[in-house]
Amino acid sequence: MGICDSTMGLRNIFVVMAFLLSGAASLKSQAYFNKTGDLPCHFTNSQNLSLDELVIFWQDQDKLVLYELYRGQEKPHNVDPRYMGRTSFDLDNWTLRLHNVQIKDKGSYQCFIHHKGPTGLVPIYHMSSDLSVLANFSQPEISLISNQTENSNIINLNCSSTQGYPEPQKMYTLLKTKNSTTEYDAVMKKSQNNITELYSVSISMSFSIPPETNVSIFCVLQLEPTKTLFSLPYNIDAKPPVPRPHVPDHIVWIAALLVTLVVVCGMVFFLTLRKRKKKQPGPSNECEIIRVEERESEQTEKRVEFHEPERSDEAQGDVNISKTAAGNKNATHF
Ligand SMILES: *[C@@H]1O[C@H](CO)[C@@H](O)[C@H](O)[C@H]1NC(C)=O
Ligand SMILES: *[C@@H]1O[C@H](CO)[C@@H](O)[C@H](O)[C@H]1NC(C)=O
Ligand SMILES: *[C@@H]1O[C@H](CO)[C@@H](O)[C@H](O)[C@H]1NC(C)=O
Ligand SMILES: *[C@@H]1O[C@H](CO)[C@@H](O)[C@H](O)[C@H]1NC(C)=O
Ligand SMILES: *[C@@H]1O[C@H](CO)[C@@H](O)[C@H](O)[C@H]1NC(C)=O
Ligand SMILES: *[C@@H]1O[C@H](CO)[C@@H](O)[C@H](O)[C@H]1NC(C)=O
Ligand SMILES: *[C@@H]1O[C@H](CO)[C@@H](O)[C@H](O)[C@H]1NC(C)=O
Ligand SMILES: *[C@@H]1O[C@H](CO)[C@@H](O)[C@H](O)[C@H]1NC(C)=O
Ligand SMILES: *[C@@H]1O[C@H](CO)[C@@H](O)[C@H](O)[C@H]1NC(C)=O
Repeated sequence: MGICDSTMGLRNIFVVMAFLLSGAASLKSQAYFNKTGDLPCHFTNSQNLSLDELVIFWQDQDKLVLYELYRGQEKPHNVDPRYMGRTSFDLDNWTLRLHNVQIKDKGSYQCFIHHKGPTGLVPIYHMSSDLSVLANFSQPEISLISNQTENSNIINLNCSSTQGYPEPQKMYTLLKTKNSTTEYDAVMKKSQNNITELYSVSISMSFSIPPETNVSIFCVLQLEPTKTLFSLPYNIDAKPPVPRPHVPDHIVWIAALLVTLVVVCGMVFFLTLRKRKKKQPGPSNECEIIRVEERESEQTEKRVEFHEPERSDEAQGDVNISKTAAGNKNATHF
């Protein structure tokens, strides 16, 4: 490095470098709890420096060292116990991999590369990255606390979701019927594990279920404004219609008997009336009956006449739209 030959003091060089490098934007990276996260360095070794000439290390926001590679040799004695055995350095892309990520690992990290020249260590590269840690909440699960009873349609449910991070925004329920979807807010009960720092959340819900409709209840965990987790539906089928008050058998029998009695009496009365009328002289009565019958048949004829134009109307419509076989047949009738 030519700059090392200059007469400037090391201190000045450091100040210049720090100034040049402070403009570098810090990179964001994400890791899942208990998985591996990447802490990038993005060093482009444009001068093709050999590892023998370099000192590479990462430190966290509290200046605790995660990893150090001193002239090609890993130096564990500077590494904080918290990070011991949890890192591996990927030389292909100058990335430090942090294993078994915990919630407390979230924060900012810095990678430093120093050149080990004849005059000592010269910082040549530096980068910051921000690590955020996530844990997926389990799918919300609805469990029954108390059932509907005979004289109340109220049902009590509990919905819970566990081991997630960060803290979700809210948890609510959707009650869906064939017609409607109603949202019910609830007070989210949350607890945080004091070791893993993961959250578990739950709500308890109480609904009056309309007995005559099928109902599906969903529990929704709102993680972010646009990110939600749905439970499986908890289905409550419509109750069969309440049977009508039970009528004792003997009453049914008596009623049937009465009806038959009335019908039989009526028939007997009608028949005797007819017989008596037939015995009476004079044809005028018979004529009337015939005339009534004639009028009736006339009416049925009219009805038939009325029906035919209707059908041909339909047929015409068919012909206009498309000349189907049936349409043509009807048309020839005309
Ligand atoms: C972390 O992951 C391992 C398997 O990869 C599993 O055995 C362990 O239970 C997990 N720990 C937690 C706290 O989830
Ligand atoms: C970088 O140096 C290595 C040897 O240290 C050499 O093999 C390689 O060709 C060099 N690459 C460039 C781009 O100079
Ligand atoms: C670096 O390379 C490894 C595989 O060699 C890959 O898993 C990792 O995602 C890479 N990281 C970056 C930041 O490109
Ligand atoms: C977490 O959930 C997302 C989808 O929301 C999925 O892509 C990712 O693989 C899950 N991660 C783990 C560790 O389960
Ligand atoms: C709740 O009621 C349903 C029928 O209405 C029954 O199948 C179920 O076993 C009951 N569950 C409990 C916990 O009482
Ligand atoms: C559904 O809607 C129809 C008409 O909009 C209404 O007649 C019916 O009572 C509704 N059913 C329920 C269960 O709300
Ligand atoms: C975590 O909580 C448990 C009780 O739930 C308690 O016994 C334990 O001491 C706590 N641990 C820490 C580190 O606070
Ligand atoms: C729901 O049930 C879980 C597990 O049984 C319990 O820990 C939680 O306190 C309950 N939530 C509410 C709001 O009652
Ligand atoms: C309720 O759902 C069942 C199937 O789960 C269906 O057979 C029944 O017709 C539905 N009843 C109503 C009132 O929609």
